[in-house]
Amino acid sequence: MRERSTKAAESKPSTLRYASLAAALTLSVSAAHADAAADALAPAGRWEGNTSGSASTPPMGWSSWNAFRTEVDEAKVIGAAQVLVDRGLAKLGYTQINIDDGWWLKRRTSDGRLQIRTNIFPSAATGGPDGTSFKPFTDKLHAMGLKAGIYTDIGRNACSQAYDLHSPNLPQGTTAEREVGLEGHVAQDINLYFKEWGFDYVKIDACGLADFLPGSDLVKQQNYRAAAPLIERGSINRTDIGAVRARYEAVLEALKAARPANDYVLSICAWGMANVRTWGKDVGNLWRTSADITSSWTSMLHNFDSAAKRPLYAGPGHWNDPDILHIGHGAFDAANPVEVRSHFSLWAMINAPLLVSYDLRNGPASLLDVLGNADVVRLNQDKAGHQGVVTYDSDDAQIIVKTLGAGERKAVALFNRGASPAPITLLASHLKLSSSAPVTLRDLWSKKSMTFSGEQAFTLAPHETLVFEASGKRQLENGVYLSEIPGSINVAVDGTRQPQLDPTVHRMIDPWSNTRSGGARPQYAGWGGAQADTTPYGQTLQVAGQVFDSGLGVLSNSRLQVKNDGGYGLMTASVGVDDSTENTRQPVRFYIYGDGKLLAQSAPARFGAKAHRMTAKVAGVKVIELVVRGSKADDAAPVVATWGDAQLTRAAR
Ligand code: GLA
Repeated sequence: MRERSTKAAESKPSTLRYASLAAALTLSVSAAHADAAADALAPAGRWEGNTSGSASTPPMGWSSWNAFRTEVDEAKVIGAAQVLVDRGLAKLGYTQINIDDGWWLKRRTSDGRLQIRTNIFPSAATGGPDGTSFKPFTDKLHAMGLKAGIYTDIGRNACSQAYDLHSPNLPQGTTAEREVGLEGHVAQDINLYFKEWGFDYVKIDACGLADFLPGSDLVKQQNYRAAAPLIERGSINRTDIGAVRARYEAVLEALKAARPANDYVLSICAWGMANVRTWGKDVGNLWRTSADITSSWTSMLHNFDSAAKRPLYAGPGHWNDPDILHIGHGAFDAANPVEVRSHFSLWAMINAPLLVSYDLRNGPASLLDVLGNADVVRLNQDKAGHQGVVTYDSDDAQIIVKTLGAGERKAVALFNRGASPAPITLLASHLKLSSSAPVTLRDLWSKKSMTFSGEQAFTLAPHETLVFEASGKRQLENGVYLSEIPGSINVAVDGTRQPQLDPTVHRMIDPWSNTRSGGARPQYAGWGGAQADTTPYGQTLQVAGQVFDSGLGVLSNSRLQVKNDGGYGLMTASVGVDDSTENTRQPVRFYIYGDGKLLAQSAPARFGAKAHRMTAKVAGVKVIELVVRGSKADDAAPVVATWGDAQLTRAAR
């Protein structure tokens, strides 16, 4: 029914290829001439995680959007950049300066070259045959020791052309001149941005694939060219996931060609739609996991939740993006220091980009002090890139634990989501530290230290987040649980069949439609994806009554890759069908591979059978792959499978 509007999309079996790798596998394996190459569960023998682009740690800097929407201008941007430099924030890592929507005047129809709105970016009025150029602007930022980012859309038209119709800075001219997005111009625009204009970062929105609907009032009144939606905001099944992904892949190819030195950042802005929470890591350096953040507490919760349960999908070079910070506005202005610190601490703990977005020229010093908390920034920028894992979860309070480095230190956040004081007891075991040895906590806001054994009770003020750096005796003195090192794991195949919507994201009153929308229904696919220390559906890991506090929760027909860069010698796990599985009928088998070679396999494991202990010698192995095979029948629900206590240790036997 849906038109596929790109060649790239036509050439790929889109939904099958990308939305549901397990389903694709089912088809390919049952086809008469299936071969090993078509088996997505076969070990790759090499790291398949995306290594393109330059975002080894989460991007940090400033974005114009929440500060100025489309009323951005050069003085405002350079002013913000100057404050980052003058106040020492650039030195802390805030170096990425991004202009968002509003910069463009039109696409010149004679040659397709984009023209800049020089009344707001005067240095772009370079004249000559090119008309305008951002080169003076990016030169200026580069001379300040900063990097420059630009904004575009993956379709023909941008979001402001649907949602900011009152803006003085909308593209002008004929229908064609106002088609400022990438569609039909990918190589031309990417070359312009990265080769000619010298940008380092591009954020690519997706309204052009979602909002310019045939026959709509918007299209008729604004005289736009209509586009059958590849993204249907209200329906994941009617969204052409493969076509959306293919559009972004085409951009990635253009970026690689424009910047062979890999010095670019690709930010995918598809707001958690089109199953991007699953495939964003394979294409971009960051991908939005949700709708736009607003300056309310519950919007912050919503956006935080959309990324916080996805630690296995992020790591060095690729980051979940719950959106730019809203510090400085509304519930996060200087009059709300508790909320400001919480918002900032939470983004730091889950390795979210730290992109400030208020008018720094007029910002209160107290907000700059929050952004300048070097201890909290250090958590976010820790090179190992392990996103914090939610280790205690409730609607009222959460405990989030983040491994620093190879595990010798931890950070922990205690988060009171609610409007009443919350009692929160931190256990040494939350940190995977020994209960019988002292644990030292250093509060990264007050800078005070304390020591406890076993457990320590706290009472948190409404909306408060406490963040500590913790050290003690590790539970695994000689190794790590795999759930402690999510940044070293690549979910190659997650075993989901049809994308399912995640019911765990906080359901706020929709800031745009209010109560006109029938309720805040789940919007983001990714439910059922691999998890650290819980099952894919958020349950305790448990096999035949045996509970595992540590482990990886997956579905059948999944393949995870683990980098063995800690030089570990032994991999062990207690594996089995999880007690929470919906499909209690089918057996699964577990396999451990090292650099492509089979090292260990289980007998068929069935619901109700005791966990089976697997060991594999992995000394010298670079990439370990963990595969669970189950029924490939199309009508069988995936089996919930548990890699209980999965760990790497130094012991050679
Ligand atoms: C969308 C994006 C925002 C911002 C605006 C610009 O809403 O999600 O982050 O870029 O478009 O119009």
